Amino acid sequence: MRFPDSFLDEIRDRLPISEVIGKRVTFDKKKTNAARGDYWACCPFHGEKTPSFHCEDRKGRYHCFGCGVSGDHFRFLTELDGMSFPEAVERLADQAGLPMPVMDKREQEREQKRATLFDAMEMATAFFEQKLQSAEGAPARAYLRERGLSAEMQKTFRIGFAPDSRNALKEHLAANGIKPEQMEACGLVIHGAEIAVSYDRFRNRIMFPIPDARERVIAFGGRALSSDVPAKYMNSPETELFHKSNVLYNYARARRTVHERGQVIACEGYMDVLALHAAGFPNAVAPLGTALTERQMLLLWRLHGEPVLCFDGDEAGVKAAYRAIDMLLPGLEAGRSARFALLPEGLDPDDLIRQEGPEAMGEVLAGSVPLAEMIWNRETASGLFDTPERKAMLEKRIRQVVGAIREPSVRRHYEQDMTDRLAAYFSAGTSGPDGWNGGGNGGKSRHRTGQGAGRRESGLKGSRGVVVASPALLSTGIFRKGKTHVPLREAALVMGACNHPAIIESFFEEFVGLPLSSQGAESLRQWLVDLHAECAGRQEAMTHATISARLEGSPHAEAAHRMDAQLAQNRIWQFRSDAAFEDALEGWRQAYTLHMRARALRNELKAAELALSDDDSEENQERLNTIRAEIEREEGTEALIDGFGLSSGRPMKAL
Ligand code: UTP
Ligand code: MN
Repeated sequence: MRFPDSFLDEIRDRLPISEVIGKRVTFDKKKTNAARGDYWACCPFHGEKTPSFHCEDRKGRYHCFGCGVSGDHFRFLTELDGMSFPEAVERLADQAGLPMPVMDKREQEREQKRATLFDAMEMATAFFEQKLQSAEGAPARAYLRERGLSAEMQKTFRIGFAPDSRNALKEHLAANGIKPEQMEACGLVIHGAEIAVSYDRFRNRIMFPIPDARERVIAFGGRALSSDVPAKYMNSPETELFHKSNVLYNYARARRTVHERGQVIACEGYMDVLALHAAGFPNAVAPLGTALTERQMLLLWRLHGEPVLCFDGDEAGVKAAYRAIDMLLPGLEAGRSARFALLPEGLDPDDLIRQEGPEAMGEVLAGSVPLAEMIWNRETASGLFDTPERKAMLEKRIRQVVGAIREPSVRRHYEQDMTDRLAAYFSAGTSGPDGWNGGGNGGKSRHRTGQGAGRRESGLKGSRGVVVASPALLSTGIFRKGKTHVPLREAALVMGACNHPAIIESFFEEFVGLPLSSQGAESLRQWLVDLHAECAGRQEAMTHATISARLEGSPHAEAAHRMDAQLAQNRIWQFRSDAAFEDALEGWRQAYTLHMRARALRNELKAAELALSDDDSEENQERLNTIRAEIEREEGTEALIDGFGLSSGRPMKAL
């Protein structure tokens, strides 16, 4: 009797291999790490005194480093106990609490049919791979090169090319004994009642094979080479082998590396998975053109208790992240949650890695926030809760959201967590302007409080009052973490000095002591200060030309370029190199004053909030109100700083 693969898989999935092996050996207490599903014992296959026999629940395999035996659940029993394979299956099915399958003839046929479909998919994969290397594949190879996918990556992911032909694949498969019905069942050809002759589904596309958990190809994603094609990606339809909502791209490979990485990443697309792999994050998967499903979430949870879900940092991405919350909540269990990582606006992981390097991606992942934080952000994002009715409404909504958690103990903890947040939020007041219009610096400091870094640890309870105020804010600055992101005002202050170095002469002390929160601005400032000292030593004036020449090819060139572009983008042109010096100087003075004032107010606000959370006195309340009023006034003033830049012939945009 042949057992369906799906049945054997089910046994492997349900039954940790350590439970099978643990019945026959005693695990070594010192070397074993049961929490990680990592077990060591003296090898039962050969005599030994120190344990070199290893098994791992995540992989579902055992291996002896002494004698070299290895295998899975079934192999263990057939090899060690000499059981026949069906005996082993029966024994383990019993241990796993699964009834033995009754296979009638039809089911056997179906299994056989599936096997042939796997063969056909494998043949197609090899065909596409070979076509990519052929003369026809030249444009596809060029495209891949352009996108930075090395030959090695192409090989690892078995990337291929479907030629621009209606029957190239069809004929190839037919020549290898695959019947038309089988091609149709695989979704490799387009057919139908009104279609006289079926034809290749994928034409003139880069082909990404989609392997299942056992690395057999079950579907394809095909990417168009140019943007003038209706569908950028075309995926295999649902087939006997492929159920889109149950599959994650790169699942098998990610599973192999999750343990060592201690993390699994879910991103949006094929290209993101590839870019992540190439950048040293092989533990990434992606759904296939849909939002993450519950089934896919279960797959992720098999790999890790807290998958990191990556979303684009634009509004659509934030919305998708918010939607994912509702998908996740019902399935939560003790030790089963998720974290959220939002990318800088407009970038997917592939873009980010290309533009800012793997470290930037690492930072995004490190800055991921827990699910509870995300729920809180979503529910409070809509704005002010300044009346008892609004507060009650917020409370009610949060209770509803958390009510979706089925597991009672997890739900209880969420209720407690949200109760704490609400209490802190309300006691600290609900409007917390921190001195910066939207993104920029303010976003950054909000992020820190919003993210909870140091909050619990240092007991900064009151600072919870300063949370996300609007979705717009969310999408602009709050989750932006890349070390390369520089708040606008900091970019202005440093680029102003870079483009008009005489500013440094006029405001030397101020420039050197300028508090900067971003690494990009900080290191460029330091470089300028050093260069200034060097020029002074040679008794030369530091000119813009000197700076440009030295900057070229230096590690700071890119950051400077980016900040310059940032100024252009925000139409803050009076600090750019072609602005009149008088405008630059006056603008710098203004920006500096505002910068210092905003900082001071923010610090005062924080202190006042802390004081209030310690001591709920009228005096403290009064102090907080005064500071808030001050901040509001300050923001009003900022809007009024228009009209500079007249020497350059243009009005100035408020910073
Ligand atoms: P994106 O549009 O974000 O594409 O779609 P991408 O992954 O960044 O791809 P490149 O960089 O433009 O090549 C994300 C995912 O959504 C699915 C694919 O799975 C894709 O990887 N998708 C997208 C489709 O299925 N069909 C489409 O037309 C577009
Ligand atoms: Mn992309």
